[in-house]
Amino acid sequence: MAGRDAERIASLFWWMLGAAVVVWLAVMGLAVFALHAPHERQSRKQVQLLVVGGGAAVPTVLLVILLVFGLREVPGLLNPGSEDGVQIHLRGERWWWRVRYELPDGSQFELANEVRLPVGTRVPLWLESSDVVHAFWVPSLAGKVDLIPGRVTRLGLEATRPGRFRGVCAEYCGLSHAAMRFEVVTSPPREFERWTRAQKRASREPSSPVARRGRALFTSVGCGACHTVRGTPADGEIGPDLTHFGARARLGTGAPNDVRGLQAWLRAPGRHKPGVNMPGYDALSSRELRSLAGYLRGLQ
Ligand code: CUA
Repeated sequence: MAGRDAERIASLFWWMLGAAVVVWLAVMGLAVFALHAPHERQSRKQVQLLVVGGGAAVPTVLLVILLVFGLREVPGLLNPGSEDGVQIHLRGERWWWRVRYELPDGSQFELANEVRLPVGTRVPLWLESSDVVHAFWVPSLAGKVDLIPGRVTRLGLEATRPGRFRGVCAEYCGLSHAAMRFEVVTSPPREFERWTRAQKRASREPSSPVARRGRALFTSVGCGACHTVRGTPADGEIGPDLTHFGARARLGTGAPNDVRGLQAWLRAPGRHKPGVNMPGYDALSSRELRSLAGYLRGLQ
């Protein structure tokens, strides 16, 4: 566990489970007693007391206690966090997550399938969907929240330790629902700030000849019609922003973000994510795909 809300949910679960076990044992004990107790010795009054007490009074009192106990956690779970700090806007797309950061200084940047959080601060997430209902769920951090077209839902995320955590879409949303993964990276506040500073910058100039060839290809095959790379003419908004693509640990499929995985993805995205909007580039040679992947990996 690495989130305040996950801790709340887990402790609630264990208390409820404990209470359920105690009640189950008591009921089983009574059942065994009823089977073996001599019938004729029980008066009518005793039987009535057992039915009214054990059948109505005790369950009512117990359920009210558990309800109050559960409701106590609700304000904490619903707390969306402060609107003065970093804000994260999440949009469910056709099987990927658009993640836009809004910083207190007014600057913004966008990434995909990765959410970064500082440890110890409750960060507000504003969730929307472009098409159908998705659900954002990072079990290690918090409960799930639906992304509903035409509505904005909210979630506060508070990480308690640094690490990397898997997130999934938890609402069936079409062909590649199961491949709609993402990663949450939590880090100490200083490191998080360093990361936001790096993300705000425009993309870096490619340093190697391979990457330069890749950038030329990126432009000539028209990647910029769908993708943005800040600092270059590429300003498409349909697909993920790739300005700092190389800094992400994983591809949108959950596979490691390396040259091999990228080449396979570029060749036939539909094989890894059926129904995805991105076309395949199997017309490019392996060498061309390698340079394209090299350019993208270099976008740190
Ligand atoms: Cu998005 Cu399931």
